Amino acid sequence: MENKVNPEPYQWKEEYSVKISVIDDQHKKFLDIINELKIIINSGTCKEKVSQVFFQLAYLIDHYFIKEEIYFKDLKYPHFDQHKAQHNAFIERIIQFQKDVENNKPDLCLEIFQFLENWFDEHILKYDKDAVEYLRAGGLN
Ligand SMILES: [Fe+2]
Repeated sequence: MENKVNPEPYQWKEEYSVKISVIDDQHKKFLDIINELKIIINSGTCKEKVSQVFFQLAYLIDHYFIKEEIYFKDLKYPHFDQHKAQHNAFIERIIQFQKDVENNKPDLCLEIFQFLENWFDEHILKYDKDAVEYLRAGGLN
């Protein structure tokens, strides 16, 4: 694999925190996977290690999405359906990536990395934060 990414690992920052440890913990694990993908890409070991990445992603989907959905649903977050739809779209994309692995698609780890990086910026730091802030502003927490 020719492509390389900036090897500098992402560090968790206090500004990422939603101040709910169960959600923050999962978001930290997300960053861990992104950082692991950086190492995999730069060492050209995607073929050997990509299944390990899927295993971790499956774990996160099973734990993090469900916990977050229960939390938002219990607190009657009004945009819950849209939020859940985003989670479902994420799962669909991961399933597609698994098919790409079976088809030996080139540069797959780079593609997964870019997808997760984008998810971190666009979902975790925006939707998840907004949802928690909305609930908090309503005095629901
Ligand atoms: Fe979310």
